[in-house]
Amino acid sequence: MQASLKFDTLYHVGEIDHRIFGGFAEHLGRCIYEGIYDPESPHANIDGFRMDVVDALKRLRMPIMRYPGGNFVSCYDWKEGIGPRSHRPAHPDFAWKSIEPNTFGTDEFMKWCELAHTAPMMAINLGTKGAEEAAALLEYCNMPTGTYWADKRAEHGHKEPYGVKLWCLGNEMDGPWQAGHVPAEEYARRADQAGKIMRGLDDTIELVACGSSARGMATYLTYDRITLEYCWDSVSYVSAHRYSQNHRNDTAWFLAEGVEIDRIIDDYAGLFAYVRGMKRSDKEVHLSFDEWNVWYKNHEADGKWQKAPHLLEEVYNLEDALVCAQYLNAFIRRADVVKVACIAQIVNVIAPLLTTKDGLLIQTNYYPFQLMAEHSSGRSLTPSLACPLYHAGDRGETPILDVSATLNDQNELAVFVVNRSQTESVTLDIAFQDASIVRISGVDTLHGSDPKAANTWENPHLLVPHTGAARIDGNGAKVELPPLSFTALRGAVTPR
Ligand code: AHR
Repeated sequence: MQASLKFDTLYHVGEIDHRIFGGFAEHLGRCIYEGIYDPESPHANIDGFRMDVVDALKRLRMPIMRYPGGNFVSCYDWKEGIGPRSHRPAHPDFAWKSIEPNTFGTDEFMKWCELAHTAPMMAINLGTKGAEEAAALLEYCNMPTGTYWADKRAEHGHKEPYGVKLWCLGNEMDGPWQAGHVPAEEYARRADQAGKIMRGLDDTIELVACGSSARGMATYLTYDRITLEYCWDSVSYVSAHRYSQNHRNDTAWFLAEGVEIDRIIDDYAGLFAYVRGMKRSDKEVHLSFDEWNVWYKNHEADGKWQKAPHLLEEVYNLEDALVCAQYLNAFIRRADVVKVACIAQIVNVIAPLLTTKDGLLIQTNYYPFQLMAEHSSGRSLTPSLACPLYHAGDRGETPILDVSATLNDQNELAVFVVNRSQTESVTLDIAFQDASIVRISGVDTLHGSDPKAANTWENPHLLVPHTGAARIDGNGAKVELPPLSFTALRGAVTPR
């Protein structure tokens, strides 16, 4: 099959924000305990942090890390996770029916972030707590010494403020499962009160208001609109969450998931424009897609009051990786709307990494993330794609390819393509109206014939990227896209 992809260097939607390559670490299952922090592992450093996990995450170049939840945060008392470990109480965690030992808390997280070359994106508890606790946490993290909580931080070994820039005002407050779930009107007041005080203490911070936890919620967009109207002046972002599912076991349908992701981003772009219009405002509000991934195979959410139970340990196969690539393609394509995004999560819990005491398994969805985080830079080009359609069940006729591309000031080009076809290879011609592609500097392809194939402890390298096939062709390039594939092509262009 043939397809054609055209660009013009002048047609783009603006610079991509690298915070779309963020991660998410929640006190849930074996994410923090055993995944990030495991003093008993042979891979632990002196602080008990798993260095094999840190090294694998560093290769994903995550500029931000959302923490400590998730549903967990809505019952969390951050004050129990600071100070000498011997004074920290263990408590039952309502969200995941587990025991929270509090041996890892804010200071450990900050230290770990430094090690992992990432920056904290902190969530506050707006379920069972409120503005006062949030202000105290802000003081602990961001204020210079000379006040009670800032002095506590210094006492705990960190005199300088941590300078946390990005703060989430609660988590999924639209969801009845959430501790402290309230209707939008009430959440909006809570969020606005907390946000005003936090920004009053530190006006360099940016705030994320909770949006809907899924498109299927009855209050989808209404919850978001009410919240945004109320909090317009204090927030910079509204959050969206999505977990893709293939319960119907229909690969063709599932691989059209990108269509749905695009719709969500469009929905929010419309909402932001609407509220801005109603407010007669010039302000820009953007989307923080701060939980996204595939998640439907493992729903074990009951920790049976254990510490670090095995929860949500999803195994990712090839089709899942191709869906994950489509999330990132959509975030790049809509760089004008999506400024922050976090894959949920990073290790052991719905994550690209799985650990045993002494082992690390890299799952399929790690690789598109790694390639895109490493190679995308600069402006998000507007793609003109002509390609065959395929039938994606009740999602209808869907383009066989899903693409995004970036071009930076050094004229370095990166093109990312998912071939959704299960049977057809595609030869893709890439060209610019106003430039020539003069060099191909690399092409990596993750592909396989079985959409359900996954890396396992026995066969950990079954699905890894291999060098793909591409060549310069006149002023453009030709790249071969095998069926069921993700390809990352890098090159250089010169203006014509
Ligand atoms: O990421 C797992 C859970 O999914 C999070 O705790 C919650 O925010 C979402 O429902």
